[in-house]
Amino acid sequence: MAKITASVYTSHVPAIGAALDLGKTQEPYWQKVFSGYEYSKQWMKDNKPDVIFLVYNDHATAFSLEVIPTFAIGTAAEYTPADEGWGPRPVPKVQGHPELASHIAQSVIQQDFDLTIVNKMDVDHGLTVPLSLMCGQLDKDTGAWPCPVIPFAVNVVQYPVPSGRRCYNLGRAIRNAVESFDQPLNVHIWGTGGMSHQLQGPRAGLINAEWDNRFLDRLIDEPAKLAELPHIDYVREAGSEGIELVMWLIARGAMSDKAPTVKHRFYHVPASNTAVGHLILENNA
Ligand code: DHB
Ligand code: FE
Repeated sequence: MAKITASVYTSHVPAIGAALDLGKTQEPYWQKVFSGYEYSKQWMKDNKPDVIFLVYNDHATAFSLEVIPTFAIGTAAEYTPADEGWGPRPVPKVQGHPELASHIAQSVIQQDFDLTIVNKMDVDHGLTVPLSLMCGQLDKDTGAWPCPVIPFAVNVVQYPVPSGRRCYNLGRAIRNAVESFDQPLNVHIWGTGGMSHQLQGPRAGLINAEWDNRFLDRLIDEPAKLAELPHIDYVREAGSEGIELVMWLIARGAMSDKAPTVKHRFYHVPASNTAVGHLILENNA
């Protein structure tokens, strides 16, 4: 049977992608950000999964404001990096895992979560920047991401957004789904987006480092209680885009009920307009 062995959490700032693509990683400003992922890149090599289930949000790129799925699972064989206005990022295409994705769709929908099935979509910085941070910079044509990826897009852009509780319970359903797949696959689940940031309005530039670090503590130690936090608290404390953090609860909910091992923790301000938070948790047998 397939098994989720680890979860990864990371912010997804588009300027991080630009810094990588334009060769700016050694600049002092960016060096501090990327230093937090040196351990992670080695960990990825040492713990290469068979599949990554990558929870992220689309930023009105694949889905316009005409169609807004709350939860969308990618069942395609391949995903092309999106053009977000500056041309597509020069990174490899993302290979999917249609067989596992279809199984998860079947299982999770039968566990009463209504997913939107997406057979074709482009993937924006929400998905490609976490991959670049964890896997390093790869050539667009000759490089390849280390394994297939199942994109799972969550609406945190247009209100109403799903609650933390629903995200956490959805993670549990995804765990059941993976564990009932009849192939011995090692699956990692990633929760991306966040941490505190607000991109517009009078509070643009808001960062709340104390709240962010408390979120990381609680995500590790008491995720079920953290999942009770109402969405307005995210917005009030962590800014309008801080709501992206509810996606981390999907990945955390998919982990075992036993306490995980914290392999890596990193927090840094600033990166563009956001605080960068990052965790690697491993399941204990
Ligand atoms: C920034 C952060 C985001 O999460 C995003 O989607 C776009 C921009 C930023 O910090 O600039
Ligand atoms: Fe974002």
